[in-house]
Amino acid sequence: MNKSNWMVMSLFGLFLCACGKDPRLEKGEAIVLANCKVCHAQGINGAPILGNEKMWAPRLKQGHEVLVSHALSGYGLMPARGGKPHLSDEDIANAVLYMMSTVETN
Ligand code: HEC
Repeated sequence: MNKSNWMVMSLFGLFLCACGKDPRLEKGEAIVLANCKVCHAQGINGAPILGNEKMWAPRLKQGHEVLVSHALSGYGLMPARGGKPHLSDEDIANAVLYMMSTVETN
């Protein structure tokens, strides 16, 4: 590959990165994989499973803000901040946004 082709390819890559994904979702995904997946991948104690429409439908109706407040302060068997006090409010908000995006049908 010559130099100018390489430039074009890199610019195209940047373009995809900047426009294709909401950066909050990317951050949220990383948080979820590292901190929330233990329960939310398999539904431990009734945790809503990522990508499971049936479990998320009534929760999506409550909206992002309410779900974030539940995730921050704890809710039923859901520990406050997923039991990870080092996570910031923004981390939790991004993580919840990502969780919602696993079922949102546009
Ligand atoms: C120890 C297991 C566990 C971990 C870790 C965990 N959760 Fe949960 N989560 C639960 C359970 C159980 C519920 C279901 C609570 C209920 O509906 O009574 C839940 C429910 C939720 C809900 C829905 C709340 C609602 O109003 O219905 C959100 C949002 C959520 N968790 C976000 C997170 C995020 C974000 C993380 C990571 C930072 C996380 N959870 C980590 C167990 C966990």
